[in-house]
Amino acid sequence: MTHFPFAPLTYMQRRDAFIQLVGSGTYLFLGNHEVAFNYEDNTYPFRQDSTFLYFFGVNLPNVFAVIDADKNECILFADDIDINMLIWTGPQPLVSELAEMAGIVKVLPTAKLPTYISNRTAYLPPYRNKHLLLLSEWLGLPVAAIKSGPSDKMIEAVIQLRSVKSDDELALMNEAVDISEDLHYAVMRSLKPGKYEYEMVAVAESAVRNFNARFAYPAIATINGQVLHNHEYHHQMRDGQLFLLDAGAEHVSCYAGDLTRTFPVSGKFSNQQKEIYDIVLDAQNAVVDGLKEGVYYRDMHLLSATVIFEGLKSLGLTKGNTDEAVMAGAHALFFPHGLGHMIGMDVHDMENLGENKVGYGDGVTRPTEFGFRSLRLGKQLKKGYVLTVEPGIYFIPALIDLWKSEGKHPDFINYDALEAYRSFGGIRIEDNYVIEKEGSSRIGYNKLVNSADDVESAMAG
Ligand code: GLY
Ligand code: MN
Ligand code: MN
Repeated sequence: MTHFPFAPLTYMQRRDAFIQLVGSGTYLFLGNHEVAFNYEDNTYPFRQDSTFLYFFGVNLPNVFAVIDADKNECILFADDIDINMLIWTGPQPLVSELAEMAGIVKVLPTAKLPTYISNRTAYLPPYRNKHLLLLSEWLGLPVAAIKSGPSDKMIEAVIQLRSVKSDDELALMNEAVDISEDLHYAVMRSLKPGKYEYEMVAVAESAVRNFNARFAYPAIATINGQVLHNHEYHHQMRDGQLFLLDAGAEHVSCYAGDLTRTFPVSGKFSNQQKEIYDIVLDAQNAVVDGLKEGVYYRDMHLLSATVIFEGLKSLGLTKGNTDEAVMAGAHALFFPHGLGHMIGMDVHDMENLGENKVGYGDGVTRPTEFGFRSLRLGKQLKKGYVLTVEPGIYFIPALIDLWKSEGKHPDFINYDALEAYRSFGGIRIEDNYVIEKEGSSRIGYNKLVNSADDVESAMAG
């Protein structure tokens, strides 16, 4: 039986809350299909759509649902397997059993679905081509019209509901982060000079598999931490280098963890590495001290940029007035990404519904400046939001050379002093927090170490 992490009543309450929010209309929810890897029958691991899981719980391919808000009705569309499939898959739960687990009363075969929808039916932005084609066929509209036709009202209702995590969801997120912490400890114990990056990925993946979990996203496991989304794992690691691991588990319930630590390959940070590490940690701590309901995450991003710029000034890498430098964007040479993002069943939660719809609004618009524009979450925080806090400092030779050649921010950056950091790489520290009325709590029970001393001790065993 496929796993339903919540009681039937929870799914019923979520659908009721959705109907309350939208008021009227018909809403189509598309479950995902299997996707071919290199030929039709050899597929990628199946991943159900997160919104579908949230409202209907069924973690199987080829399942759809319609909510009719006017009739206060929910219909699940799916087909029981026949004997020809059964010989390949073994017995599968009946669709009626799945519906019961999600508190759904009405079930119909998929072939009936087109008669329950029309070109006035609302749907969410399709992120898989198969869905584009299905919608085009079912709604009788060209693909271009389908692409521009998702319902804002539906998107906003889903975001409003999924953004605030319940206690039941937080319990599962704690488990996801615990497994993620476990994988980081496993890597810490295995890391040493001479090993290859891919060996660390294998250690991490094995740790996750031990919990019947999988990676929530492709791991970043690299001596080139300055390459922000680096998915190459072929380097052999040497004494003196840093190893950045950004890896998180997707729990069997599909909730994600997203953790980053940066380790010294030798087990001991050099003085230069420790100085930069401490600045990144200071930035994370300053943000965590400020996190609570009501603050704007945009302001937290600027706070972390301020701590980073100030810290680099104490090392002689930056100069001038820190507030002016941050307003001018000079810190982005070292911190060119955003402070964090919402996390839930998707590691970048609900990003398929539109980054700016999830992270902005209510008078906060997405910045356009280099670095700041990569901030996925800028809006005011509410109790129950779960987000990442992931400041970093990177030395990106190509970017340093470009800014220097363009004469960018000469009043704020000591380009000559940066020469000693050209092969430094990058450091990021990332943890996940739930927002509370008067503060925040770190997700996960294990509390993965994050100070330089504690990392060294943990690596020493
Ligand atoms: N692991 C992707 C991120 O940190 O946003
Ligand atoms: Mn992240
Ligand atoms: Mn991450």
